[in-house]
Amino acid sequence: MKKVAFLTSGGDCQALNAAMRGVAKTLYHHYGKDVEIYGIIDGYKGLMYGEWKKMKSKDFSGILTVGGTILGTSRQPFKNMRDPDPDGNDKVKLMKDNYKKLGLDCLVVLGGNGSQKTANLLSEEGLNVIHLPKTIDNDIWGTDMTFGFHSAVEIATSAIDCIHTTAASHGRVFIVEVMGHKVGWLTLYAGIAGGADIILIPELPYDMKKVIKALKDRNKEGKDFSILAVAEGAISKEDAKLSKKERKAKQAANPYPSVSYEIGAIIEKEMGQEVRITVPGHTQRGGSPCPYDRVLSSRLGAAAGQLIIDKEYGYMVSLTNGEIVNVPLSEVAGKLKGVDIDSSIITEVQNMGISLGI
Ligand code: F6P
Repeated sequence: MKKVAFLTSGGDCQALNAAMRGVAKTLYHHYGKDVEIYGIIDGYKGLMYGEWKKMKSKDFSGILTVGGTILGTSRQPFKNMRDPDPDGNDKVKLMKDNYKKLGLDCLVVLGGNGSQKTANLLSEEGLNVIHLPKTIDNDIWGTDMTFGFHSAVEIATSAIDCIHTTAASHGRVFIVEVMGHKVGWLTLYAGIAGGADIILIPELPYDMKKVIKALKDRNKEGKDFSILAVAEGAISKEDAKLSKKERKAKQAANPYPSVSYEIGAIIEKEMGQEVRITVPGHTQRGGSPCPYDRVLSSRLGAAAGQLIIDKEYGYMVSLTNGEIVNVPLSEVAGKLKGVDIDSSIITEVQNMGISLGI
């Protein structure tokens, strides 16, 4: 009997269920009744504290289009994995013990960067692990695309689309704050798709003078409204020069709830124009996966299932140049895939006259 457990870890996103369904369908198709699948509840926490349920084939039916995760999830930061839990237990040992207790052949982890590091750690500790790259941030090294990203692009784009009409009616400046603390993929894509006039991403620290100039240039052309797509993690060129400690201290004294409000206040002062801020927030992680994500997650799921059948472990399944390939976890864990500021997309955006605040 083949025994496999699934866990979803970190912030949720669309197509987690679709991906698990892809793995499950592949395993049931190959093994029939000779496979047992366990669903670990709430991510690594469930593996530590023995919370799981035995899944049936029918549990994976009807979930292709369902957002969130049927298993639940939690954030268990990698940086604390080696610290004892509140009762003094070694968390890694707890997970290894439960893996053995279940008699698993493989643990399938659906997670982002942090979860991937823990997956790699468990792999180094001798467990058979396979990782599927999920996140709306698209920041996982070693895959061209993560599932969840394109669904989130659709939601953030639709927020910008809705803002367009009201911005035009009122002649206001609107800032739409898009998720992404460390990387700007989502802001860049939604900004382009939604026709934003200014796009600010963490990889390119912005110059407020350039932002104001771009707004004034639009006004000169007779356009009295503007839309900025601003990443949660957008940073000014002055702040980018600060040390981590200095930045934290500045943040603590900052009266604004987020960077968009800070930028908005400067625009209002400099332009004398009304500014409104819209934060779609966690709506970007919700709802049904878009067709692209359903296809990508199903393909990644099928590839993960095949790895289990082939007894090949310690890999992330990845989309590379349109093909699904296997990448050793040890080669990708701990690396972040930000927007390459030398890539052609940056030039293309600038060629269209969209300001990146630089
Ligand atoms: O990593 C996905 C993500 O949605 C980021 O884009 C965002 O910054 C963060 O998670 C929000 O985390 P939480 O759900 O814990 O508030």
